[in-house]
Amino acid sequence: MLAGLVLAGFLGLTVAQFPPEPEGVTVIKSKLHENVTISFKEPGICETTPGVRSYSGYVHLPPGFLDEGTGEVQDYPINTFFWFFESRKDPSNAPLAIWLNGGPGSSSIMGLLEEMGPCSVASDSKTTILNEWSWNNEVNLLFLDQPTQVGFSYDVPTNATIVTDEDGNRKFVLGEFGTDVPQSNATHRVGTFGSQKLAQTANSTAYAAHAIWHFAQTWLFEFPHYKPEDNRVSLWAESYGGHYGPGIFELFQQQNDKIKNGTAEEGAQYLHLDTLGIVNGLIDLVLQEETYITLPYNNTYGLQIFNQSTYDELMYDWSRPGGCRDRMVACRAAVKDRDSGISHGNISDICEGIALECSDGPITHFHRENHGWYDIAHGKYDPTPAKHMLGYLSEESVLAALGVPVNFTSSSPAVAKQFRESHDHVHGGFLDAIGYLLDSGVKVHMMYGDRDYACNWVGGEKASLAIPYSRISDFAEAGYTPLQTSEGVDGMTRQFGNYSFTRVYQSGHEVPAYQPVAAYEIFMRATFNKDIATGLVDVSDDFQTPGPSDTWHIKNVPPVVPAQKCYVLDPGTCGPEIWAKVARGEVTVKDYYVVEGTNEAGEEVFERVEL
Ligand SMILES: *[C@@H]1O[C@H](CO)[C@@H](O)[C@H](O)[C@H]1NC(C)=O
Ligand SMILES: *[C@@H]1O[C@H](CO)[C@@H](O)[C@H](O)[C@H]1NC(C)=O
Ligand SMILES: *[C@@H]1O[C@H](CO)[C@@H](O)[C@H](O)[C@H]1NC(C)=O
Ligand SMILES: *[C@@H]1O[C@H](CO)[C@@H](O)[C@H](O)[C@H]1NC(C)=O
Ligand SMILES: *[C@@H]1O[C@H](CO)[C@@H](O)[C@H](O)[C@H]1NC(C)=O
Ligand SMILES: *[C@@H]1O[C@H](CO)[C@@H](O)[C@H](O)[C@H]1NC(C)=O
Ligand SMILES: *[C@@H]1O[C@H](CO)[C@@H](O)[C@H](O)[C@H]1NC(C)=O
Ligand SMILES: *[C@@H]1O[C@H](CO)[C@@H](O)[C@H](O)[C@H]1NC(C)=O
Ligand SMILES: *[C@@H]1O[C@H](CO)[C@@H](O)[C@H](O)[C@H]1NC(C)=O
Ligand SMILES: *[C@@H]1O[C@H](CO)[C@@H](O)[C@H](O)[C@H]1NC(C)=O
Repeated sequence: MLAGLVLAGFLGLTVAQFPPEPEGVTVIKSKLHENVTISFKEPGICETTPGVRSYSGYVHLPPGFLDEGTGEVQDYPINTFFWFFESRKDPSNAPLAIWLNGGPGSSSIMGLLEEMGPCSVASDSKTTILNEWSWNNEVNLLFLDQPTQVGFSYDVPTNATIVTDEDGNRKFVLGEFGTDVPQSNATHRVGTFGSQKLAQTANSTAYAAHAIWHFAQTWLFEFPHYKPEDNRVSLWAESYGGHYGPGIFELFQQQNDKIKNGTAEEGAQYLHLDTLGIVNGLIDLVLQEETYITLPYNNTYGLQIFNQSTYDELMYDWSRPGGCRDRMVACRAAVKDRDSGISHGNISDICEGIALECSDGPITHFHRENHGWYDIAHGKYDPTPAKHMLGYLSEESVLAALGVPVNFTSSSPAVAKQFRESHDHVHGGFLDAIGYLLDSGVKVHMMYGDRDYACNWVGGEKASLAIPYSRISDFAEAGYTPLQTSEGVDGMTRQFGNYSFTRVYQSGHEVPAYQPVAAYEIFMRATFNKDIATGLVDVSDDFQTPGPSDTWHIKNVPPVVPAQKCYVLDPGTCGPEIWAKVARGEVTVKDYYVVEGTNEAGEEVFERVEL
């Protein structure tokens, strides 16, 4: 009886368990690059504002395309998914912004449907709600899933089952089904995905950037529905995007420089880079790591998550000679040498254990406490931001509208593993990349929600002050001034010329999901060269905000903690006890929510959520 009710949440899967054959797709051949194609269609979903068009599709790069000159082995196709939304206002005169989520391995559709895109998904996981604070109000907006195998991007479509174990951990089990396809349930969900082959995706930010530069060269100049008068391109990136954003724009700018000095590859096109935006980004792990220890001990919400002894123990492990900080610095140096071709023998001997003992040390402690990874002021099994998009993106009608031949991969374990094994987290150089961009005339604006743990604002602020560029002392001398929006004061901003850092109040990790107005205003003011704090002043190169040099004196009142609500496609919302019942089919599920079930705060170590 109860098991029968569980299946009701998955009804429809008996009808079709695989994406429908894409229909109505236009395919065009690149004129610039032999064997590169673009395929797309108009999905007509999500952006329902009359007259505003959107296009979803792929840039298809054939095997071998990236090999030349880089030593990279790319013996697999790269099919990069995009979803482009025209500006709601005057699209032909609007600039372009690209949005990226992090992971590594997380899909940018999270930004689209949960944060700053034209719509969000209602709690039925089927219908959408128009977002009045969508970033395409006055800007053309492009979402990308990268590297390949993430989201709707794929190398080779491959059938598999997503198996979720009793701890809520997922894995992809490959397998053809023939005619006898097993019925999907909460723990076993069949579908079509990327190959899951580790060697068939990027293994570092640098390689990912390379693929995205080629994507951009094709899409920006050959996608027939993007014909801008305003050719400015911005990139906004969240979370691991603190690596992706600087890494990708650095490569774009280097390519621009090569075009100028005549060393670019034939046919390379200049890209007018406008703004790099970073939202709760992991920019520099060595610099930010300490704040994973300090923030739970000392924060502006008065939350004592780590007690004195936990704090002292972790700080000792971190800062003692030969401790975690020293080991992380040594690993970073070895990784840098490896990239320059200097051998250290087995680099794992130097870097081994750092992720587990050093990085995960504070994180493991944190997960023992009842606080949210994306929001320290919420509970551990945080129901917000709700993952309704996961239900929506398994609807057959949605996949048909988008014209995708694969199911949705919200976070790719293959990509996560590849980046972990190349030690990309600890990789340095992203502060330098930001400095290079600023000195090249690219604007850089950072916003950090101050309730986030995953990439907290205190670490972000440290990174903001460590950018090696020509005017860093002028930036550091600028003060914090209130961020004013139609809602009142939403945070505090430090700005010098084209560079700013904002602490956004009462916001977790995904700033636009928690504070849509503040995030929108920061984005708009940055794009249109207004001061971030008020939006009223045209920014000159010597514009400098007045105010105090730090904001620690400003304390916040924690919000009411929302009640736990288990959404079965996101076991992180359930907690082990409820999840075990879900797995055994002992609960009632409606629209993917367990409608009855008890709260609990167990002591088990919770699975690590992707950044
Ligand atoms: C394009 O594909 C054809 C057929 O596979 C191949 O012979 C040719 O070398 C490819 N061209 C490029 C530039 O890769
Ligand atoms: C996945 O399996 C179904 C059912 O056997 C089959 O129809 C479909 O072609 C398979 N898709 C792929 C990409 O192998
Ligand atoms: C051209 O610019 C690139 C990118 O900045 C640089 O790496 C290279 O050394 C420059 N080459 C010459 C000949 O100036
Ligand atoms: C908390 O951190 C801030 C900023 O680093 C510092 O000024 C303050 O003294 C710290 N408070 C405690 C109790 O450690
Ligand atoms: C501090 O917190 C840890 C972890 O919750 C706990 O094991 C320990 O007993 C606490 N110590 C004190 C002195 O309260
Ligand atoms: C490198 O070292 C790690 C652990 O230190 C070990 O697991 C791995 O097998 C070694 N790899 C090689 C190629 O020696
Ligand atoms: C894959 O898509 C089909 C068709 O929409 C759906 O029935 C199935 O549940 C999806 N599988 C996953 C794992 O999302
Ligand atoms: C990353 O992948 C490339 C192949 O594309 C390989 O040459 C390189 O050694 C890999 N890097 C690491 C650190 O594993
Ligand atoms: C600041 O940004 C504006 C607008 O993009 C640009 O014109 C100006 O050159 C930049 N300033 C500096 C110092 O790079
Ligand atoms: C879910 O499906 C798997 C694989 O078909 C099966 O082994 C398991 O028993 C099912 N779970 C429930 C609760 O029916």
